[in-house]
Amino acid sequence: MENNSKIRAKIFELRKKIENWNHCYYQLQDPVVDDLIYDKELKKLIALEQKYYYLFNLEELNSSPSQQVGAKITSKFEKIKHSSPMLSLNKAYTNSELEKWVQKATQILENVTFFVEPKIDGISISLFYKNGKLVQALTRGDGMFGENVLINVLKISDKFIPKKISYFDDLEIRGEIYINNSLFSKLQLESKMFKNPRNAASGILRRYKKAKNKNINLAENETDFNYLSACFYGLMYPEKHKINSQSEAIEFLKKLNFPVNNFQKQRNNLSEVLAFINQIKKKRNALDYNIDGVVIKINEFSIYDELGSTVKFPHSAIAFKFEDDIAKTILLDIFPTVGRTGKITYNAKIRPTILAGTLVSSAVLPNYSYIKNLKLNLNSEVYVKKAGEIIPQIIGSVNDHQKTNFSITENCPKCNSKLEYSDSGLDQFCLNRFCPEIILQKIVHFCSKEALNIETLAKKRIKILLEKKLISNICDIFYLKEKLELIHSEFKNKKSSDNIKENSPSLQIRSIMKLLNEIEKAKNIDFYRLIFGLGIKNVGLKAAKILSKYVKNISELQNLDFSSLNNQQDFGPVIIESLNNYFKNSVNLQLLNCLEKINFNFNETLILDPTNAWASFAISGKLSKSRGEFIKIIEKSGAIFHNSISKKTKFLLLGEDSGSKIEKAKKIGVKIINESQFLELIKQRKNPIK
Ligand code: IVH
Repeated sequence: MENNSKIRAKIFELRKKIENWNHCYYQLQDPVVDDLIYDKELKKLIALEQKYYYLFNLEELNSSPSQQVGAKITSKFEKIKHSSPMLSLNKAYTNSELEKWVQKATQILENVTFFVEPKIDGISISLFYKNGKLVQALTRGDGMFGENVLINVLKISDKFIPKKISYFDDLEIRGEIYINNSLFSKLQLESKMFKNPRNAASGILRRYKKAKNKNINLAENETDFNYLSACFYGLMYPEKHKINSQSEAIEFLKKLNFPVNNFQKQRNNLSEVLAFINQIKKKRNALDYNIDGVVIKINEFSIYDELGSTVKFPHSAIAFKFEDDIAKTILLDIFPTVGRTGKITYNAKIRPTILAGTLVSSAVLPNYSYIKNLKLNLNSEVYVKKAGEIIPQIIGSVNDHQKTNFSITENCPKCNSKLEYSDSGLDQFCLNRFCPEIILQKIVHFCSKEALNIETLAKKRIKILLEKKLISNICDIFYLKEKLELIHSEFKNKKSSDNIKENSPSLQIRSIMKLLNEIEKAKNIDFYRLIFGLGIKNVGLKAAKILSKYVKNISELQNLDFSSLNNQQDFGPVIIESLNNYFKNSVNLQLLNCLEKINFNFNETLILDPTNAWASFAISGKLSKSRGEFIKIIEKSGAIFHNSISKKTKFLLLGEDSGSKIEKAKKIGVKIINESQFLELIKQRKNPIK
């Protein structure tokens, strides 16, 4: 008896954990665990519930997360019941799991064929057309009820979501809304609000604007809907349209101008399916969208009813999931650091391990609740994953632990001030404005590539200048010249490794001259870069560019009525509040007064509309000048710079030791040019031959 209640308690605990993960995934669009761990725990729950079913009554069995598709939805959008549930897909990770699935289908229809499609990692959507007009767009929600996000879907380009079609019977189709990786990089550059393209697609799609209430007008940027793409793969009630197979359904959708994936194919047997999976795996990194596997569907609709489904997924399709590069290693240490906004990040030191071909020894943990949720234990095994990102992630513990053995940090790791919690209760902040680390990071940000781009002032140097009290804030940088003598002697005496290369006095003078030159040059900048460099909370590059449309210098910026921007649909209340707070703060005002006295020469910012750009460039490899300089040349000429290569990129400017971009450029037919061809192109653009 005692034992039974222990088992029940264990199952309930597991359910609670999975329910919480579901909530984070479906409602907050902020997954806290990796799919692999989720699947492992869900499988464990299903097995336990099957073994100990007699310990539960029917209601208890039905309320388990193992019996539901998604988390309960609490939405700002209208909740509408799906015509038929939007289910999930069963998963296969190995060839033999796939083989088993194929065998079941061949038992029903011997000559069964398959339809294979890449599994795009986006947000599923169900569109409903009446009399040729789009009248409803439902998200998956909890699988039974979706949110009607029609108002937002109507803002997506017609190329992806046709609003009117030449087909007048009732029509329901299902597909995926996603963001291309190249566009996501652009979005990231402007506002670092989203973790990944999926998160961004979901955030933009479910953006809710209280139009009538002027005080709470979120006025989020409407142009963000231009980032969304879509792709359709499902026709509901195909028999009503006299469609008998998935391949016919895709042709039907194509004819009606719906975007469909161009890699999908009909395959005749398991070995053809496996060959397709391998092909897609190889292509995966060259695609401009994230896929997390391949969906294999039985092509013939005639056997779908007989194949049937569980409450969670149909037996007519399966997702073959690509395993990301995952390694097991020991978590050696966790140490917190403080960033320029005062936010605390927990950094993990791991026993070095090879992951995706590189040796990794550290990982980042976003906050303490992540550590707590994953019950990470120091000196025990963890899973580390590298999926495209540069910094690896810890995705879970290998062994089950009761709780984490790492305690939360209550004080700033640098200045020891008591940390405060953000409104969400997840993030911790050091609020000490004299915290030396925050001051250092603020100056590092000010000198960074996207802000003032003072390359010679890297973190190490800034640290020395701060330690020697030659600077204490960003403005002091511009007074360094007057302290030349002093700096010179400081550098001469310094014996750190930083200075080893510079131990001859002439070199030191040269490097100081270089530094002062760069500072002088940095006074000729686009005004938005200075605004961005100030590091105002929530003001990223995008917001800084918008501000520079209204004001041309620091004093105009200080006198701007930020709330007036609300009506311009540019800014939401969050940014406006941040701006008001920043310009209310006396320390910031002193800093601005100091900066006002510097004779900056602000350039007029070209805010480029991609549709008017004459060309688009990406860069790879080492060039004769810094990347930043080349980006400036590109943008000044009226062209667009792309961080990564996509079909929209026209030229790849190639330097020495280039990386993988060249492969991709070749594959998608982007023109590759060297530095002199590039300069020639720009020259021609400036002086076109008449
Ligand atoms: S068919 C029963 N086909 O994957 C669900 N789904 O894990 C039938 N997805 O909710 C869906 N690409 O959001 C299907 N080619 C594809 C897909 C695809 C991505 C998503 C979709 C679905 C989820 C299931």
